[in-house]
Amino acid sequence: MKGLAVTRRLKPAEIGDAAALLRAGERVAFPTETVYGLGADATSDKAVAGVFEAKNRPSFNPLIVHLPDAAAANELAVFSQDAERLAEAFWPGPMSLVLPLRAGHGLSALVTAGLDTVALRVPSHPLARELLSLVGRPVAAPSANPSGKISPTTAAHVLDGLSGRIAGVLDGGACEVGLESSIFGGDPLRLLRPGGVTAEAAEAVLGHALAQAELSPETPNAPGQLTSHYAPDVGVVLDVSSAGDVPHLGFGPREATRNLSMSGDLIEAATNLFAMLREMDQITAESDADHFTVAPIPGEGLGHAIRDRLSRAAAPRSG
Ligand code: TXA
Ligand code: MG
Repeated sequence: MKGLAVTRRLKPAEIGDAAALLRAGERVAFPTETVYGLGADATSDKAVAGVFEAKNRPSFNPLIVHLPDAAAANELAVFSQDAERLAEAFWPGPMSLVLPLRAGHGLSALVTAGLDTVALRVPSHPLARELLSLVGRPVAAPSANPSGKISPTTAAHVLDGLSGRIAGVLDGGACEVGLESSIFGGDPLRLLRPGGVTAEAAEAVLGHALAQAELSPETPNAPGQLTSHYAPDVGVVLDVSSAGDVPHLGFGPREATRNLSMSGDLIEAATNLFAMLREMDQITAESDADHFTVAPIPGEGLGHAIRDRLSRAAAPRSG
């Protein structure tokens, strides 16, 4: 790691520079419709190792590989018929598929953490798609935050956590979905991480139920789905219906320090979630309180993914 590196904030017009940096093996953050990703050439051990280093990420945790289209994804992994159906329905978009690697895939073994499967995603954000086409190689990109911290939904969030540790960030404004992609994998398919595409939507496309995911904190469903994640510095207490003595993150038409959605709209709440967790963290740290409270979020549709992220933000910290 170059100690005194300056991180460039690249405008959309400078996308060519972002692509050139990635091709040269540098780390560059870029916007997707879910969250900002920290990109690196997925075929280069050195570039991928730099991502783990910049994020301080346990190296057993594999990364998602980003591609400009499904044809490029098909060169890297073998699609079952069901996986193909989901790809057709939801790519480009907020979904990742964990699939068996194809022989001759050319990816760095660090990307898959030595597994014989790989997580693939075709994002829909126009800047991401253009960047991936310009790079012309698969790009590994975990969320562009220090490991265990809140995922970034703006370029400023990326710089907060990684300034000086990466070559640049391509600034595409705020992310639309605001939650990481849903991850489906296994044969039969199951939901490994709730996200932008709900299980209900996937089942509607498949015409049958997903296999039951074995969810438990002791046996993380995806490697690295560690229980404490998205962690603010202060404490977080969930499912508190109204504002009290400590800062309160609301949902629905009630008084609150910040409100995920006054109208109780889950899509709006997902978009606001990570930025508001950051704000609540700061507001609480500057107050007398040692924690903030969060209103109950209904466990339906996108609410599953929001509740998943909130429960990780509130989980006991392992240190
Ligand atoms: O929306 C997103 O998915 C964002 C944007 C940047 O695309 N990316 C993202 O990546 O969230 P990351 O690295 O923070 O999350 C990757 C997740 C981890 O939980 C990892 O364990 C899981 O995907 N994963 C990756 N490869 C896997 C594999 N072969 N088998 C099982 N899980 C895998
Ligand atoms: Mg992440």
